[in-house]
Amino acid sequence: MSGIADLVTRGIRPLVAYHVPRPDGIRAKLDANELPYALPPEAAEALGRELAQVALHRYPEADPVELRALCAADLGVAPGQLVFGNGSDELIALLCAAFAEPRPGKTRAGILYPDPTFVVYRLAALGHNLEPIEVTLDDEMQLDFELVDDAIAGRRPNIAFFALPNNPTGTLWAPEKVAELAARHPDTLFVSDEAYIQYGGRTLLPRLPELPNLVVMRTLSKIGMASLRVGFVVASPQIVHELEKLRMPYNLGSLNQRAAVWLLRHHKAWLADRACDLLAERERLAAALRAFPELKVFPSEANLLLVRVGKAGDGQAGRVWKALAARGIMVRNFDRPGPLAGCLRITPGTPAENDLLLAELPAAIATSASR
Ligand SMILES: Cc1ncc(COP(=O)(O)O)c(C=O)c1O
Repeated sequence: MSGIADLVTRGIRPLVAYHVPRPDGIRAKLDANELPYALPPEAAEALGRELAQVALHRYPEADPVELRALCAADLGVAPGQLVFGNGSDELIALLCAAFAEPRPGKTRAGILYPDPTFVVYRLAALGHNLEPIEVTLDDEMQLDFELVDDAIAGRRPNIAFFALPNNPTGTLWAPEKVAELAARHPDTLFVSDEAYIQYGGRTLLPRLPELPNLVVMRTLSKIGMASLRVGFVVASPQIVHELEKLRMPYNLGSLNQRAAVWLLRHHKAWLADRACDLLAERERLAAALRAFPELKVFPSEANLLLVRVGKAGDGQAGRVWKALAARGIMVRNFDRPGPLAGCLRITPGTPAENDLLLAELPAAIATSASR
């Protein structure tokens, strides 16, 4: 390699950019762990009038004070305990940037996370030239906390990320065990990523006062506001202090801030009801999918279902994915060598979208098997 290629951060050289397939004619969008219900038209119009008042020629509030007050009150924490990010993706990167100092005698800081999990932990670690430390889940996508304990004791990562519940598996590993580990390893930062808390998690927020090395991360993305890119962490004053130094000024756009504040003020109950609707749809869809002998549906506490199609490595999952996409049904294809071989991830949609999936799936499976 020569020229600027040599300057590229080593860890990211072999990566390929995150790609989201968007073919024409999508009829059911079940690939991104969103809440699938659009705002009622009258609410959307009122929001439009609200957003028309935003001064587009001015920079946003550098400190999203109103949003901060609302989110803090909702959780019963002090407003100063929150740091906002352009989605929690940005906060994951911020944590990796702010806590990146190698321990004495090491050349790189370590970032621990279970595998498979949310891909951004790995990307953020590699992007900041940190060392990923992966603890592989068992065949049922459960986490062996003894392995985690050993890895933390042996490798001494700077940060350990836990998605509670996890994406893309949907499994919920005992949050209490994460808190126990945080108490046992006070010089590692533990992140409880509670993106899917609305769908079955158990929060570690009450443990924050006794665990100064714990960070709780939340997002508005999974509860009906994915387009706004608003995430936040709740943490001790010391951690907030360090993160705020690196948070880019104006990282939340004015329209996004205003829309989030308006929705939380006027439509929080409506959004919470839709999340309940989605839970019911998840259970209905999971039961219907379990009736297919070709499918293994993993238990889920999130707004997603991980499904293994056929046998790991037989390629059937990829063929089912293609057949569904050709019918306008987008699910997420995770079929690649490793623990997710043969797996698709299906985000439950509206009742109509789920009915469409269930109607088209038999044909998609039949074509995929006959190759
Ligand atoms: C576990 C987990 N954390 C965080 C996120 C990202 O959330 P945001 O939209 O706030 O960046 C996701 C998105 O899928 C996720 O699965």
